[in-house]
Amino acid sequence: MKFSANEDCIQVIDETTNVVNIINELTMHGTTNNEDPFYIFDIGDVVKKHQSWIERMPRVIPHYAVKCNDNDVVLATLAALGTSFDCASKVEISKVLSLGVQPERIIYANPCKSKSSIIYAREVGVKTMTFDCDIELQKIKKLFPDANLVLRIRCEAEIAQCALGKKFGCDPVIEAPKLLKTARSLNLNVVGISFHVGSGCADFPIYRKALGFCKVLFMKAEELGYNLTIVDIGGGFPGDNDKSIDEVSIIINQSLEEYFPEKHVRVIAEPGRFYVASAFTLITNVHSKKNIYNPLSDEIESTMLYINDGVYASFNCLLYDHQIVKPKLLKDHSETEKTIKTTIFGPTCDALDEIIVGANMPESIDLGDFIYFENMGAYTLPVASPFNGFPLPKVYHFIERDMWQMVRSMIPVEANDRFIEDFIGKTIEIVSTTA
Ligand SMILES: Cc1ncc(COP(=O)(O)O)c(C=O)c1O
Repeated sequence: MKFSANEDCIQVIDETTNVVNIINELTMHGTTNNEDPFYIFDIGDVVKKHQSWIERMPRVIPHYAVKCNDNDVVLATLAALGTSFDCASKVEISKVLSLGVQPERIIYANPCKSKSSIIYAREVGVKTMTFDCDIELQKIKKLFPDANLVLRIRCEAEIAQCALGKKFGCDPVIEAPKLLKTARSLNLNVVGISFHVGSGCADFPIYRKALGFCKVLFMKAEELGYNLTIVDIGGGFPGDNDKSIDEVSIIINQSLEEYFPEKHVRVIAEPGRFYVASAFTLITNVHSKKNIYNPLSDEIESTMLYINDGVYASFNCLLYDHQIVKPKLLKDHSETEKTIKTTIFGPTCDALDEIIVGANMPESIDLGDFIYFENMGAYTLPVASPFNGFPLPKVYHFIERDMWQMVRSMIPVEANDRFIEDFIGKTIEIVSTTA
């Protein structure tokens, strides 16, 4: 046996090993107890995403949106790679600071903050924060008058998994200029404009429109005596393994050239999904099955499978993130095998706990079979609850050898003691699959 089901280590693997090999081995050798769901986290996938970001949008400095997946190894890897961070709460800020990240690398991108969080941000030196209304400005004036403020405007994609404009962002034409004036009258330091087009955006030209609004507001701010230097293009970037940022990056680069050719303007983004979605694969197990019979003919009409993770845990993404998940079977099934309408439920007592409805799946799927789901890294684990006493999935970490060398080499020397031999408390195990 080569791989182990051990949450406390990072297994460094050969380039020839893929996720399915790992799942097969972990499940066949019974290293997992097979009753509980688990994740395979491919750390190298995060590294590759970062490389792709830098290649495609070299001007845009990524601030990873911690809310999307606050797994310690995700954060430590991104910190080592040199990304900055978007935090939305005190706890997120403190988690990122605890990795040795300088406060200047954090944007507090929550336009509506509690008083104590603003005070905390001031105390720990996180100066850059967003706002989108006058009452927030009054609050900041009292609690952190030296903060660097980024005005969040609303510019929503027509197609997005999660729209955010109902809750955050001011109208860019009517409200934003007024808010700039209010900030000026309070003698506050506005440094930039931000937007979020919606998470899981599929309407990429919207970034151009939003950048156009930013340009106008840069000019309006200048009339008020401000010299804005930050454009924050938010999140919304695709992250699944069958999607890329090729198309959206072309639109963003061209729009930046058009509206912000001046290189002193710092362009930042807050990608979440992009970095982590495809890095996590969830492995579930069928623990129960119920056939539905036609009362007249007694033939099986459809079937119901019950698996060990559901909408109260990882699949909360169906409800909150409007994800579409695709089940894959670990066992081989012939293409000619008879299929049957199958509904997949999670383990809890709630009928809402329904993951897949009426999909055609092989009839022979049985108790103990494994069903895995790719692209499960975004907005899954941080929201999951152990409702009904079902344990949350464990996460097993893997990384290809050359990717690990790269992460290692990027960790600053003074951080070595803390980060390397045990990377944030995880031991490093070199697993050779060829030996
Ligand atoms: C303020 C803010 N920034 C960034 C993100 C991350 O967005 P995404 O995962 O679409 O990149 C979110 C997601 O809700 C957000 O609210």
